[in-house]
Amino acid sequence: MIEYRNLRIALLGAGSVGAQVATLLLEQSDELAARVGAGLELVGIAVREIDAPRSAPIPKELLTTDALTLIQGADIVIELMGGLEPARSYILAAINSGADVVTGNKALIAAHGPELLDAAEQVGAQIYYEAAVAGAIPIIRPLRESLAGDRVKRILGIVNGTTNYILDKMDVEGDSFESALAAATALGYAEADPTADIEGYDAAQKAAILARLAFHTEVPVEAVHREGITKITAAEVRQAQKTGYVVKLLAICERLTDPLTGEEGVSARVYPALVSRLHPLAAVHGAKNAVFVEAEAAGDLMFYGAGAGGRETASAVLGDLVSAARRHVAGGPGVAESTHANLPIMPIDSVVTKYQITLEVSDAPGVLSGIAGLFSGHGVSVEAVQQSISSAGVAQGVSRTNEASGTATLVIVTHEATERDLSRTVADLAGQPSVVRVESVLRVEGA
Ligand code: HSE
Repeated sequence: MIEYRNLRIALLGAGSVGAQVATLLLEQSDELAARVGAGLELVGIAVREIDAPRSAPIPKELLTTDALTLIQGADIVIELMGGLEPARSYILAAINSGADVVTGNKALIAAHGPELLDAAEQVGAQIYYEAAVAGAIPIIRPLRESLAGDRVKRILGIVNGTTNYILDKMDVEGDSFESALAAATALGYAEADPTADIEGYDAAQKAAILARLAFHTEVPVEAVHREGITKITAAEVRQAQKTGYVVKLLAICERLTDPLTGEEGVSARVYPALVSRLHPLAAVHGAKNAVFVEAEAAGDLMFYGAGAGGRETASAVLGDLVSAARRHVAGGPGVAESTHANLPIMPIDSVVTKYQITLEVSDAPGVLSGIAGLFSGHGVSVEAVQQSISSAGVAQGVSRTNEASGTATLVIVTHEATERDLSRTVADLAGQPSVVRVESVLRVEGA
């Protein structure tokens, strides 16, 4: 029997992920010790209420409400409380007492990552946060280590399971947004207040974290352009099906050169976009997550799996714990993170992508050519135009003009254009007497 020295592990929080981490750590302690070369002794779990119900059985003698005392004696602190405070202060206390930190706190890393990482670097400590983005999926380590020798061009991520479930249900079952949201709530994917998911705040925090790692550049979460999915209609989803697309909420992190100014920078943005049904991301169903990475040398990579769930996310936490523990055993510096590139964050106006615009227009001579002229006047090139009836007709596969109202529906797909040019085009279209309504403007991504 090999005798290992013990590393002291403090756990902060025993919610759905914390309770699973505690259980797995206790169950697998012999195996983890063999992998690390040191015992991992769970010395305590700080909670707000000792008697609160737990999702997994935890020995009561490990529970304490005195987080700071627990932190002081630990080699590694695992923070799974969530929220900004007191999590931030506890992590700083852990770093300052010489501990390494493992956290799953995406809001905290997105908002205070630079401060915490700097504090850790000052004292030679490490912060690991694999569980902060896309639950069980390994994506932080691939960006921080595996792809450290490559140049990432673009990341397209489905990083919010709730919104993917809603959009998938709208696509597969024809639900309205409201009824798909109600189903997501009933299943426990969406919180009682689903704002963070459906308005894209959760995905924006993840985009900020991914962009920072991918482009070695500080990306404040406030600089992430964000649009949610609440305005996506069943008609838009049906229209997307007809043109070979599916609507997905994407977190996009991209290296960009503004064609107008020549300036190079980084774009981080979250919005619902059309994705070709042939793209691997189109096959991500239900509440699953996936991160599609386009790198210069590696080419395309996709990381797929569970983006949430107590046990699934606990896997990512334990992976980080093993890394932190190995570093303690081996000594020396840990994995370096750098923001040396310090690229500018590009505004949404500089983004270059394709668009699908759906218009209801008067069905009269010269209307189509007038609209085509408006696109070319703004330097936006049209790739395809389809004329059909209103959305109800599209759903039935009918393709004719709406004779009763004397209007027609035009679906226009553009070649790549800047958001700047496209938004000017759409503003002009909305002011045309021949345009009854701009029904939908969606970006097409992943081409
Ligand atoms: N609420 C998130 C989701 C999980 O629906 O994916 C936590 O980030």
